[in-house]
Amino acid sequence: MNYESILKQLRPTSEEIDAVNGTTEKVINFINELCEKEGIDAKANAVGSVAKNTWLRGKSDIDIFISFPIDTDMDYLKEKGLDIAYKTNEALDGNPSEHYASHPYLTCDIDGFEVDIVPCYAIGEGQSIISAVDRTILHTKYIQRHLRKEQEDEVLLLKKFMDAVGTYGSEFKTGGFAGYLCELLILKYGTFEATLRTAQNWKRHTVIDLEDFGTAGNPLFKNDPLVFIDPTDKNRNVGAALRMERYVDFIVASRNFLGIADDNDLNEEEKQEKIIEFFKPLEKEHLFGKSNEEIANYIMESFKDRETQTLVIKFPIPEMSADALHPQLLKTVSSICEKIEMEEFSVFKYDYWTDEERFVIFTIELNVFKQGKYYIHKGPKVWPKKACGNFKKKWQDALYPLDEFMVLTREREFKTAKEFLEKTLDDNHIHIFKIGKNIKEAICSDECVPIEIDEFLNDLNTEFDYGISNKTGDELAKDYLNSLDDFLNPGQYIKR
Ligand code: UTP
Ligand code: MN
Repeated sequence: MNYESILKQLRPTSEEIDAVNGTTEKVINFINELCEKEGIDAKANAVGSVAKNTWLRGKSDIDIFISFPIDTDMDYLKEKGLDIAYKTNEALDGNPSEHYASHPYLTCDIDGFEVDIVPCYAIGEGQSIISAVDRTILHTKYIQRHLRKEQEDEVLLLKKFMDAVGTYGSEFKTGGFAGYLCELLILKYGTFEATLRTAQNWKRHTVIDLEDFGTAGNPLFKNDPLVFIDPTDKNRNVGAALRMERYVDFIVASRNFLGIADDNDLNEEEKQEKIIEFFKPLEKEHLFGKSNEEIANYIMESFKDRETQTLVIKFPIPEMSADALHPQLLKTVSSICEKIEMEEFSVFKYDYWTDEERFVIFTIELNVFKQGKYYIHKGPKVWPKKACGNFKKKWQDALYPLDEFMVLTREREFKTAKEFLEKTLDDNHIHIFKIGKNIKEAICSDECVPIEIDEFLNDLNTEFDYGISNKTGDELAKDYLNSLDDFLNPGQYIKR
């Protein structure tokens, strides 16, 4: 296949390259001069995709790491690092917001670019890291040293493909492939296409050990779908954040893509046309041009057609980082569904949505959501007379034998799944679930009650009558509706 016409859209323009390099240099020079002036033993480094020439057009976040000697006191590093970042931001007329990885760092809007300024330790090769971000400088150097000029294009193709099929990004929300992992895959397999040709045959536990460290047997990696030993740290799996869902998505997307690339019934032009779609965001034809209200109606119709009952639970979140929030949400909603099943209802599917700042919405779709009035309560087996006697003391005449057991017919406490949730999502019952610690209070509050999806969607404008950061209520509602469409129609992203 020839990817030149696609690459023309992916490579940054020369104006963008000049602007990015200009701002990067400005930030680095300012930090280094400041450190010299103030007698601080630290140095600014350009890292990430900008330093590696592997960023996609229009997607440059400038990553600048301030490295301190390894014997620097951690508190000093944190305080000085952030102080330098704030001074840099002010001198360069930026707009700052503080974030938290393993320690605080600053994201600044400078010249229209998102600039991350992160303090870290200057770790030498082979030395062990002190804070979690310390590997980044080594990663950058490794890629700069090994990735050949012509392979930069291959990285762009792989990143964009991953992005379009929904497998790019190592943040918990996606659970996909990090930029560094894409670069390493190109180092291993040479080209974008060769990577896909191999990936289509990957098995449940693939091991890649570029530097032949021989450390892949580490028990820590046992359940990881993909183990790519970090060439800069033999005890680290670069694919540690990759979840099985995204791993299999990528495998199947590779098969789908190659199925078209290898289809002899298509002429070159037809092929090119189809192939190009794999590098563009998915266009959902069935939602095209529809208003939020129309999409909401479509979604209500679809749920109705499934003859299920779908419950929605909305609650506010406290201020916390997205990477801490997502695991708590997943754990909580899956625990709630597990308990629903233990009450003999049946969950067909569940998911959560969040704007990551204000609200969370759990969506729980039930195949069995209503039960009869009674259930069989099982006691001991009939054979041991003494145990049966004890059981009888409690239940008296209600007991009778069924199969080999003493049982009684009892009235259910919860006749619907909705009732179960209404009565258990409070302070007195919450201990039966595994709830993320930062969201427990909100879930137990009186305002947090399950409602049916129709009721929720009919009131969409009120539910989303707020905006966050740079998104309006309307956009948030659209995003939520889109996630419901993904819920109803899984697997859309990995094919074209
Ligand atoms: P970025 O997420 O910005 O990645 O992390 P990137 O390589 O610049 O790719 P883009 O921005 O998506 O194009 C910056 C650096 O942090 C380290 C890597 O070294 C990366 O280059 N990192 C980040 C990891 O090692 N693992 C991660 O999961 C995320
Ligand atoms: Mn980056």
